[in-house]
Amino acid sequence: MDDTTRISTTPHPPDPQELSLRPHTLHDYVGQVEIKDNLSVFIAAAKKRGQAMDHVLLSGPPGLGKTTLAHILARELEVGLLATSGPVLERQGDMAAILTNLEPGQILFIDEIHRMNRLVEEVLYSAMEDFKLDIMIGQGPMARSVKLDLAPFTLVAATTRTGLLSSPLRDRFGIPLRLSYYSPDELSVIVARSATILDIGIEPEAALELAKRSRGTPRVANRLLRRIRDFAQEANQEVIGAGVVRSSLKRLGIDEFGLDAFHLDILKVVVEKFQGGPVGLSTLTAALSEPKDTIEDVYEPFLIQEGFLQKTPRGRMATPKAFGHLNRTPPRPAQPGQMRLEVE
Ligand SMILES: Nc1ncnc2c1ncn2[C@@H]1O[C@H](COP(=O)(O)OP(=O)(O)OP(=O)(O)O)[C@@H](O)[C@H]1O
Ligand SMILES: [Mg+2]
Repeated sequence: MDDTTRISTTPHPPDPQELSLRPHTLHDYVGQVEIKDNLSVFIAAAKKRGQAMDHVLLSGPPGLGKTTLAHILARELEVGLLATSGPVLERQGDMAAILTNLEPGQILFIDEIHRMNRLVEEVLYSAMEDFKLDIMIGQGPMARSVKLDLAPFTLVAATTRTGLLSSPLRDRFGIPLRLSYYSPDELSVIVARSATILDIGIEPEAALELAKRSRGTPRVANRLLRRIRDFAQEANQEVIGAGVVRSSLKRLGIDEFGLDAFHLDILKVVVEKFQGGPVGLSTLTAALSEPKDTIEDVYEPFLIQEGFLQKTPRGRMATPKAFGHLNRTPPRPAQPGQMRLEVE
């Protein structure tokens, strides 16, 4: 597909190496089986009817393949894709200009839709529902409302935080899809595929070892593979074996669960400074000097998924698994009997 247009730069342009590893068809997109099965039905149905497919909301932690899937959708539907992102659309007019330029059936991809401002978002409501643009232009006595018909289009939006979307916006997506972390088996297929594209050999056992330490995330797996390739090259090894994977990851500071130094810092703060918690997110971010969003979007989801951290109404708590991983003894929970004794 060469009619893909990027109309504005996203805040985080993908690095060119990542682009080269991106699968281009649903068939090459590993894992997320239910999502793929459903999407292939919706794609076929939309093509058969000759209509734009319903709007799709892709959510899930960073690096799981949301942007990749948006581009695959365009390719499979044989339509063009216009890409933009929430934070770069500052005024209603920016959104109006994009919507009025869409071709029938085209995909409008909005990355980081949770960071779009509310006024801009309101323009989307009637556009998504009725393919109509309904905005006010001008100010004061000169202000007038403009109504325009739009070409039917498919909005594909990506977000790491569905919780931050307003319900009127969320409800207008006919196909909400939540991507989940990949299993080690799925990630080892991705690693093997990427190794072929990068023209390096990797033993199946090594691919699985790397997969297990990639935090369920294809982007992490691909990034580590490129670093391990460097170490293998330095050691004059043409085929990556499990030994090189282990020694390279050690040098990169990645442990057997795939946690890096910063994941461990988070656990250490909760376990050592706050005796396991609960710790409020603001206290945690202050102690770690990292932005709240980074901790909440990038680091926490995996720690929670793997049972190292728990989110409770009173704050984050470290689990016995976290204490064990840091070689600490969890504080003993108060026994109901003991409590009664103290009261007596
Ligand atoms: N299902 C998959 N099969 C094979 N490779 C994948 C898959 N999903 C993602 N990847 C690889 O992981 C990389 C990261 O994916 P992508 O950029 O689509 O993630 P994302 O969810 O959009 O992340 P972010 O939230 O940071 O924007 C891609 O370049 C691609 O190489
Ligand atoms: Mg993305």
